[in-house]
Amino acid sequence: MPKRRSKLRIAMVGHAFMGRAHSNAMRQANRFFDLPFDIEMAVVVGRDADRAEAARAQFGFAEASIDLEATLAREDIDLIDVATPNDTHAPITLAALKAGKNVMCEKPLALNTREAKSMAALAKKKGLKVGMWHNYRRCPAATLAQKIVARGDIGKIRHVRAVYLQDWLSDASTPASWRTDASVCGSGAHGDLNAHLIDMTHFLTGLRFTDVSAIEATFIKSRKDGSGKKRTVDVDDALAFLARFDNGAIGTFEATRSAPGRKNYNKIELSGEKGSIVWNLERMNELAVFRFDGPADTRGFQTVMCMDDVHPYAGQWWPDGHIIGYEHTFVHTLVDFVLSMRGKKPFSPSFDDGVAVQQVLDASLKAAKTRRWVKVS
Ligand SMILES: NC(=O)c1ccc[n+]([C@@H]2O[C@H](COP(=O)([O-])OP(=O)(O)OC[C@H]3O[C@@H](n4cnc5c(N)ncnc54)[C@H](O)[C@@H]3O)[C@@H](O)[C@H]2O)c1
Repeated sequence: MPKRRSKLRIAMVGHAFMGRAHSNAMRQANRFFDLPFDIEMAVVVGRDADRAEAARAQFGFAEASIDLEATLAREDIDLIDVATPNDTHAPITLAALKAGKNVMCEKPLALNTREAKSMAALAKKKGLKVGMWHNYRRCPAATLAQKIVARGDIGKIRHVRAVYLQDWLSDASTPASWRTDASVCGSGAHGDLNAHLIDMTHFLTGLRFTDVSAIEATFIKSRKDGSGKKRTVDVDDALAFLARFDNGAIGTFEATRSAPGRKNYNKIELSGEKGSIVWNLERMNELAVFRFDGPADTRGFQTVMCMDDVHPYAGQWWPDGHIIGYEHTFVHTLVDFVLSMRGKKPFSPSFDDGVAVQQVLDASLKAAKTRRWVKVS
């Protein structure tokens, strides 16, 4: 007889890009992983009844709603999933926590450090489980990279070289959206893409940023919105920064949405005393590893295929080498969060991790605006 599991009822707020990715994870998690809860897709919450209903039918939720307050008041909802634009993360999360709900929130955690700290503080006060969807941590190759660094295989880290390049804002005819409006997103490529690089650096290296210096540019200063109205673009198209870390290492970070030909080029290279590692989302099942040990005449970067049984998460899917994709990183994130709800093992990225990312984002944005080095608080 299979063990009876209790249910974990989720209400998801927002149902576009991330809503699609999160709800796919909700559908797959129990099918591939042994979890203490049966995930139930209870409600999808939107702002427009027809679109919310269409999302309900397509994604497989039991109900659709446009009443967030009423959803939060329901006793049968255990977890609120926040998959909406950045300016709504704090208000929705704070309301959910006040209503006694656990929360999973998209990145960046908030518009600024002050907001992020208020979310982390309330979650602690309420003793609720919270986490963030920095999904790239849970590519098997990235999780393996973290293990390799933690066990000292490449020695003390000296360099972090990270880029996240996209091209969809290269063209002036790409319409304005919430992603080009600072009041909704906080910053442009920076908060969107550097947020991932900063979290990945924290995760892979355990290092903390101490000082940053930055440059930013907005190449196209106004764009038409969907209705043809001209809108000012008040966020960066690109932001690059230099960083110093608490162990003496140095780092370079570059985020842009104006790099023609680069689609989702999220790449991080770590150089240590004894070797290097390169992870690149566009080759997400592979890890490039270099070490100085072994015979000198065959030394070079090795490409490790990270989808064998011995690799993180890989054994839950297919036979060795049968690769996985972007959507699986969300499944892994949800699985680890659900496991943390029953066990004592904390989930990361936590809201404290989100605050740490936000502090680096805020410091580097300030460095770009003031053209000075800024200490990371
Ligand atoms: N983890 C990742 O890799 C990743 C990738 C893309 C986006 N994101 C993050 O996910 C969040 C959502 O991004 P997206 O790409 O899904 O955006 P999107 O524009 O595709 O979708 C946003 C959704 O939120 C809804 N919405 C907006 N305001 C709302 C409100 N007040 N109440 C209820 N619903 C509301 C919209 O109707 C839409 O369904 C952002 O914070 C973004 O930074 C993360």
